[in-house]
Amino acid sequence: HRRLRVALLGAGAVGSQVAALLRKHGDELADRAGASLELVGIAVRDLDAPRETDLPKELFTTDAEQLILGADIVIELMGGIEPAKTYVLQAINSGADVVTANKALLATHGPEIFDAADQVGAQVYYEAAAAGAIPIIRPLRDSLAGDRIRRIMGIVNGTTNYILDRMDTEGADFGEVLADAQRLGYAEADPTADVEGYDAAQKAAILASLAFHTTVPLDAVHREGITAIDKAMIDSARHAGYVIKLLAVCERLTDDPQESISVRVYPALISREHPLASVHGANNAVFVEAEAAGNLMFYGAGAGGVQTASAVLGDVVSAARRHVAGGVGVGESTLANLPVVPVGRV
Ligand code: HSE
Repeated sequence: HRRLRVALLGAGAVGSQVAALLRKHGDELADRAGASLELVGIAVRDLDAPRETDLPKELFTTDAEQLILGADIVIELMGGIEPAKTYVLQAINSGADVVTANKALLATHGPEIFDAADQVGAQVYYEAAAAGAIPIIRPLRDSLAGDRIRRIMGIVNGTTNYILDRMDTEGADFGEVLADAQRLGYAEADPTADVEGYDAAQKAAILASLAFHTTVPLDAVHREGITAIDKAMIDSARHAGYVIKLLAVCERLTDDPQESISVRVYPALISREHPLASVHGANNAVFVEAEAAGNLMFYGAGAGGVQTASAVLGDVVSAARRHVAGGVGVGESTLANLPVVPVGRV
């Protein structure tokens, strides 16, 4: 196997699980990728901070720039705009492919980062940036590229869905369930990003940009959070046959999406008959209405360290395959790496 050097920036809820899984399933991923994936280091701000998984101390460094310089694939899981943006651009400019889950960065500086990558022939993978473990970036960008998407309705924030769901099913108290969401690792470092809808708005901007093949700037996304929702509202919604969910709605208003689209995040009343009403706990779901395909729903874990790590590692395998293929003929070269199973023994 060719050896690819993988650098990880950030060792929080997702980063520590990515590192652990990469070490645990390294051989299997190497077979799949056609290259061995060597975790060469993990850049963190504080070497002494408590970590969720047991990782060798010598992997950790505070020198992100040095780590980036020697890497083929850089996984950015620090979150926030800076210094993540500087590091991502450094990685691109040093010839590495980037895997990131950073929705804030992509929703605000996506075009600049994608342009930088285009200029040097690098790739930026971000399946984990919206709806956690759920494959939704590739489906919107690739699988549905031949169709016309009319509307997306997404439950794209696990924390608020968890809170609203427990308020609905148990009559639980807002503050108490938010604390549980933080303890379970769903909430952002600053949970205001979840409950005020900023996190969902960033994901909506990313999904709308892909769905409508345009750039939707974050400040064009209408945003309302769930802090004004109380028990009485949830109860009266239930009695009328509805459930309150924080929805991200991305909609084409005219035939030409370049002309007019609407992207908004707000607490919506959903009929209890609608498939989105059955999304409980910290799960996410993205309901896509496409002209030819009809309605599609993508459902699963939208938050959580190990779940989101799955999407990150899928991107790492994709990046590795591209490296092995030299950026061209990825499909053929990838197939050539598969083990041949003799017929009759499958
Ligand atoms: N805080 C986010 C959520 C994590 O609750 O959905 C995943 O982006």
